[in-house]
Amino acid sequence: MHRVVVAGGTGRTGKAVVQYLIGCAGLEVVGIVSRQNAGRYLSSLLPDLDVEIPIFGTLEQAYAAVLPTDVVDFTVPEAAVNHFTFCIEKRIHPIIGTTGLSSKDQQLFADLCREHKLGGALIPNFALGMIVVKKALAAAAELFAYAAVIDYYSDQKKEVPSGTSKQLAAELKKYKNYSHESIPVYSFRIPGQTVSQQLKFGGMGETITISHDVSDRVCFGPGVYKAVVNIGRYEHLVTDLGFLL
Ligand SMILES: NC(=O)c1ccc[n+]([C@@H]2O[C@H](COP(=O)([O-])OP(=O)(O)OC[C@H]3O[C@@H](n4cnc5c(N)ncnc54)[C@H](OP(=O)(O)O)[C@@H]3O)[C@@H](O)[C@H]2O)c1
Repeated sequence: MHRVVVAGGTGRTGKAVVQYLIGCAGLEVVGIVSRQNAGRYLSSLLPDLDVEIPIFGTLEQAYAAVLPTDVVDFTVPEAAVNHFTFCIEKRIHPIIGTTGLSSKDQQLFADLCREHKLGGALIPNFALGMIVVKKALAAAAELFAYAAVIDYYSDQKKEVPSGTSKQLAAELKKYKNYSHESIPVYSFRIPGQTVSQQLKFGGMGETITISHDVSDRVCFGPGVYKAVVNIGRYEHLVTDLGFLL
């Protein structure tokens, strides 16, 4: 049985993911980390919840009280780096959904996993639809000479471009088809906008648009669940959700 702590479980994404995980077989959400809600139970924020999940101010406190086997993180980059390092030291699998981490951070995570022979995940988009987007990307990139990445978010989203856009652009750069070295990335931040990640391919007299649209953050839940139950198969850092399904 996986004992899961969700750091940032009181945030917009963390709350939706916790609500999904609570119904899943083979795991138990044993704690939440949130500085502002420490000492409370999650049910005080989600009145429909019929389980009591304690909220701790730090991951260290959560570790001492509930001994997690896996930590899911939807916080901010600085906290995610600290949480990842702590997890590896304690031989807990870190599953990081927080975006905006630098390539240096990613290298640190990869080195820590390799040195300690422990699986960890850094996945910028847990939505299952992104698996389909990547397959469509591979098909289109073989045929079309122009590609661009576009992301639409509400003005609450600080990060520009999004972590998903960065990953999609990196994926496109693997294809030799492109005459330009860098792939253009366009980001729009619009009040009231729901999340939409798009890929645009252009050829002679035609274009293709691949679009992934989020209508509810619960879409991240199934990918996080798969990551928790499957990360134990690995002894390195996994950055592609496809390997965890
Ligand atoms: N990978 C994916 O599929 C995916 C999907 C959606 C979002 N995200 C990413 O997830 C992250 C969170 O997004 P969100 O929209 O849910 O943010 P949010 O609503 O602002 O929630 C942030 C959460 O993190 C906690 N937090 C903030 N600073 C912290 C710190 N220094 N130490 C510990 N906890 C801290 C907050 O609680 P306290 O302030 O009480 O500590 C809160 O619970 C972002 O990086 C976002 O891009 C990833």
